[in-house]
Amino acid sequence: MANKIIAANWKMNLMRDEAVSLLEGLKNGIPENEKADIVIFPPSIYISDLISINDSQIEVGAQNFYFENKGAFTGEVSAIQLKDMGCTHVLIGHSERRELFDESNELLFKKIKSALHANIKIIYCCGESLQEREDGSHLMKIQSQLEILNSLTNNELNSISIAYEPIWAIGTGLTATPLQAEEMHAFIRRVLIDTFSKELASEISILYGGSCNENNANELFNCPNIDGGLIGGASLKVDSFLKIVDSIK
Ligand code: PGA
Repeated sequence: MANKIIAANWKMNLMRDEAVSLLEGLKNGIPENEKADIVIFPPSIYISDLISINDSQIEVGAQNFYFENKGAFTGEVSAIQLKDMGCTHVLIGHSERRELFDESNELLFKKIKSALHANIKIIYCCGESLQEREDGSHLMKIQSQLEILNSLTNNELNSISIAYEPIWAIGTGLTATPLQAEEMHAFIRRVLIDTFSKELASEISILYGGSCNENNANELFNCPNIDGGLIGGASLKVDSFLKIVDSIK
């Protein structure tokens, strides 16, 4: 069985004090016996502050990094540096990075290898545009984004989760219906079965992201192939994020 994961993508939001109080609120609100993995992805400048006050089961990840380990790459941080700070996860392939920062599959593959080398878990994001959904090429699009995982070993795949995030649903309030989301998640599971094995595919967590909130999380998380969520806007408020965490049960 795949792990349940609820991940919070804070993106480029919150000032330091707000980030600290958000984590404090989550620490107080998440039950000690919470079974799902809870991971927050704060802006990277707050990672070390947050890790230093975090005495809970909440894990801290990074939204971005560069694939080289060290050297003359002004402005960048590496996966081994993140690991050294105590980061457990990284996001790779988020549509905002693919689109706004021109991150190609070739670059994303290098980032995957680099994170694996650093022994950091990966949430690999995929998703189609509105146009691709409307012209019916959405399944093909996702399949092509998943292809960069094909050469990974079984051991490496243990460090990978997938987040399906339809671009038209991110930050728009337009969530995929449970039917649309489950259809895609089942398709992703099928691709993983065909590429790897049934056993391995059943262990890979597939998260849904895109305007997931406290009102729709329950229905989405009840779908058989949805193992949790990658939450943007609704992860910035303690109450709404805690309700989403509660919905995974
Ligand atoms: P959203 O963002 O929940 O605000 O739509 C999700 C994401 O981009 O990870």
